[in-house]
Amino acid sequence: MSDFLLSSLIQLPLPVITARFVCFIVTENVVQATPFNGRKQSLIEDARRERSSGSAGSPGPSRYGDGFVFEEKDGRVTLNVLFTLSNEKNAGFFKTGKIFETFEAKLLHIESRPGRKSKNSTTDLEFFMKCEVHSSDLDVFINSLKRVADDVRSIPEEKVPWFPRQIKDLDRCNMLITKFDPDMDQDHPGFSDPEYRKRRAFISELAFRYKQGDQLPTVEYTAEEVSTWREVYQQLRSIYPSLACRQFLDGLQQLEKECGYGEDRIPQLREVSAFLKEKTGFQLRPVAGLLSARDFLASLAFRVFQCTQYIRHCSAPMHSPEPDCCHELLGHIPMLADKEFAQFSQEIGLASLGASDEDIEKLSTLYWFTVEFGLCKQNGAVKAYGAGLLSSYGELVYALSNEPEYKPFNPEETAVQPYQDQTYQPVYFVSESFEDAKIKLRRYSATIKRPFAVRYDPFTCSVEVLDQPSKIQNALSQMREDLKTLHNALEMLNSS
Ligand SMILES: [Fe+2]
Repeated sequence: MSDFLLSSLIQLPLPVITARFVCFIVTENVVQATPFNGRKQSLIEDARRERSSGSAGSPGPSRYGDGFVFEEKDGRVTLNVLFTLSNEKNAGFFKTGKIFETFEAKLLHIESRPGRKSKNSTTDLEFFMKCEVHSSDLDVFINSLKRVADDVRSIPEEKVPWFPRQIKDLDRCNMLITKFDPDMDQDHPGFSDPEYRKRRAFISELAFRYKQGDQLPTVEYTAEEVSTWREVYQQLRSIYPSLACRQFLDGLQQLEKECGYGEDRIPQLREVSAFLKEKTGFQLRPVAGLLSARDFLASLAFRVFQCTQYIRHCSAPMHSPEPDCCHELLGHIPMLADKEFAQFSQEIGLASLGASDEDIEKLSTLYWFTVEFGLCKQNGAVKAYGAGLLSSYGELVYALSNEPEYKPFNPEETAVQPYQDQTYQPVYFVSESFEDAKIKLRRYSATIKRPFAVRYDPFTCSVEVLDQPSKIQNALSQMREDLKTLHNALEMLNSS
């Protein structure tokens, strides 16, 4: 394998570990114990969230065998290694130290936690060490460690943020932002209503328990919840014909005809998901609240839309500080039934996979000004296609009045435009058409710096990382077959 390919290898998906760890940071003979908790702040990102459990027993690293990426400089490599030691008389620990001394390994970082995989999990310790060794000693160094320690594994340096590769990996894309949650936000209309918060917690629990492939949960909505829905539906429905784009109106009409949309009942995610799957391949999964941008965008790459199931507080039917089922079902779903728009949404998702935090921020701003607050030209008039507009009576009317500033959609400019999540937007971006927006977005995505390209495989519902010539070759062969089919179709049309 060439150096180029080696350096472009990225990591395998690693499982989320939410257990509590203690990290020991060695600072000039002082060992500080720092408690860690949570998904993103644990033992060196939970030892890079570790290799998947299936590979836990994999043999030790070999630069040539495993294709792991190590930093190499002046003949020395940086290595992250995990191993378990029996705690009896600390013998293993001292032997490990001897190995480090023998190989002149420079210890850069060390952490430990109670062993979780061994039989004696109460006495054994699992260690994470970052060290620097001579590259020529690497294999023999690892083999020596294996003689005194158990379960020796290497963790590759994280070059690229983790991202889901298979649709089931979306079970790990669950980082919630609680900024607008009724338990946290004093301005939330439900903040001082314990019954509402209890109801929210019950519906959130359904989402927390959901795993990819499960049947989507059903919520028995109360009469009060349906009444809130009715009010929102009636108000918005009355202004859609003059303000919403054609694709939205088409989608809503189909939903009313085929999916039981109407003012008298709140549609269930299960039936809406089945409807979308048939139209554009999109499907829904329940989510407990507002997701982090990275996790939300990653789902779109798989044509999965993370959808809340609770409804806004009855005291403020025309306003919700956070996404709720009115926002999702009325704002987003009709648009996701449009093929062009579905493709556009997936393109944003694919561009986000493995992107840097800075690029994620830009992509989520792009998402904000298009999928949430986008306007487009149609038959000489400006219409709304953004879900944030189409689920808010006040902002929809405002956005299409003469008051706000309009700018042409231009990803470079849109991606850095400051936005408002507390009040109406100061500026809206107008696309010539979805097709135009898609082409511009694709061009913009190509400028995002990633050491690889990705491609979605709809047959396996997985994301393929095109980091080897053979993978690119396979993708090309598949495309050739598709082109042949199109060519044949054209020939048949010409001959008829
Ligand atoms: Fe939204």
